[in-house]
Amino acid sequence: KKKLSIAIDGPAAAGKSTVAKIIAEHYSYIYIDTGAMYRALTYKALQEDIDLHDEEKVANVLSRLNIELHPTVDGQIVMVNDENVTEIIRSNEVTNNVSIVAMHSQVREEMLKRQRQFATEGGVVMDGRDIGTHVLPDAEVKIFLKASVEERANRRHQENQKKGYSSDFEQLKQEIANRDKLDSEREIAPLKKAEDAIEIDTTALSILDVVKKIEDYIVERL
Ligand code: C5P
Repeated sequence: KKKLSIAIDGPAAAGKSTVAKIIAEHYSYIYIDTGAMYRALTYKALQEDIDLHDEEKVANVLSRLNIELHPTVDGQIVMVNDENVTEIIRSNEVTNNVSIVAMHSQVREEMLKRQRQFATEGGVVMDGRDIGTHVLPDAEVKIFLKASVEERANRRHQENQKKGYSSDFEQLKQEIANRDKLDSEREIAPLKKAEDAIEIDTTALSILDVVKKIEDYIVERL
């Protein structure tokens, strides 16, 4: 059987990682969460207290980082220079600053190189914002997931509550809309559906509905 490359893009909190993990598991493919790489860099840049708008400084931080993604049964562990940052890169501080770090061209070039290295053998499900358009333009399967901002904020809100984190729905909605705007309007590799991607609006769909739709599409390409 062919080992496909599967690109899953879309706005914040559209369910990309949930769906990508399930699909990767079904086909024994590796799952690569590119957002985690930008988050890891943001975490370290914040820790060094540098100006996140300073491209040279942020790129310099990245040049000193070894970012590793280790798959586990229910997701992945993210390691940066041997520190386990899996949880901390999901903090509000990182989430609300990552889109600034992700605007810089030197950062994106380096990330693109690293991300392609993860995918050289195929058999990969990669999620992010620019996978179908830039990182893996030749991917056999390209999916663009979207959902209304209300629905996405609502899903994040419920997730937070389940984990026992404090959570404000209106604030989440604002933060998600803000991140979408920065990610869609940036100059380099903005969030955009690839021309040959299939778009799935997940607003009224369950996780398994979405997985089913994508796998029906994958089967035709295997
Ligand atoms: O997917 P996640 O929400 O974890 O991504 C965090 C941020 O990383 C995005 O809001 C975006 O700014 C950046 N990102 C990106 N390109 C990718 C993946 C993530 O610019 N391929």
